[in-house]
Amino acid sequence: MSVVGILTGGGDCPGLNAVIRGVVCRAEEHGFEVVGIRDGWQGLIQNRITPLDRDAVRGILARGGTILGTSRMDPYVHGDGLASCQATLDSNGIERLIVVGGDGTLKSALGLANEGLAVVGVPKTIDNDIAGTDITFGFQTAVQVATDAIDRLVTTAEAHNRVIVVEVMGRTRGWIATHAGIAGGADYILVPEYDYNIDEVVASLRARHRGGHRYSIVVVGEGIAAPEGYVGEATKTDTYGFERLGGVAYQVAAAIEDRTNFETRVSILGHIQRGGTPVAADRVLATRLGVAAADFTVEGMTSVMTAVQGTRIVPIPLEVACSDVRGVPEDLYETARTFFG
Ligand code: F6P
Repeated sequence: MSVVGILTGGGDCPGLNAVIRGVVCRAEEHGFEVVGIRDGWQGLIQNRITPLDRDAVRGILARGGTILGTSRMDPYVHGDGLASCQATLDSNGIERLIVVGGDGTLKSALGLANEGLAVVGVPKTIDNDIAGTDITFGFQTAVQVATDAIDRLVTTAEAHNRVIVVEVMGRTRGWIATHAGIAGGADYILVPEYDYNIDEVVASLRARHRGGHRYSIVVVGEGIAAPEGYVGEATKTDTYGFERLGGVAYQVAAAIEDRTNFETRVSILGHIQRGGTPVAADRVLATRLGVAAADFTVEGMTSVMTAVQGTRIVPIPLEVACSDVRGVPEDLYETARTFFG
């Protein structure tokens, strides 16, 4: 029997377990055996394998995190690519791999596919920024968490006559900021894709407060540049060389308070956006992606990624997914801008 290995790599994301469940149940239906690879690439390099069947994935659909664990280890950063994984593949009879990950993990998956391993990728990130797919699972959960937080911050901001700067995740793209900002009725939204002028932000908040509003909510994506003259801490990088972000809201808040004297507070939502149970839409999307990944795998496809295009899930070349990062389109940001101030 042909064995399919599945791993989850990079940061976790609500819906990972739904993908695993979808892969296992569909592959089993096709008569394939599935094994789980623990802790991402680390398990493939260090032979940490666990059998997976319908029983093993019972009850995990709504659970956050990943039953397989994840890590930032990488076969090309911490090993020699396919050569570092070969012993594990051979000893477990793994002929095909399903890799659930973000851009860093998918780049390594593409590397292994180029070395001859049969690999199907499933895009994963709350950031919603992977090229070639209209949406990634986990994003809608992150947006819901951020929106709920904004709703709560509105009432305390209003009670105290304050400005609150809410920082959300998303790395270099402002999908979560834009969607949660629109859904939460934010008074200004700053995203990395579009430059901003802090004096315009301040003018807009001043006008709003002059107009009788007692509070303002400013949503910022963690990847925006700090206002001129306000320097943040030097950033560190993670295993993939990505900047570790977080904290720019403090500089934005300082710039607003300095210019307006409005009492200003900061709320950085952080990993709460990634933890916990996926919303229903993410459970459905992740399940569909898992089932499609199993289908593409048993059909013998390789070097492809499951992508959402309109209402369909289609295979696209992994190369396309790895070639770019998808940003917030102008028309969407324009919609958000309508409600500034
Ligand atoms: O890419 C997903 C993400 O949650 C980003 O939005 C965030 O900047 C980053 O991961 C945080 O990574 P870590 O879990 O390594 O702190």
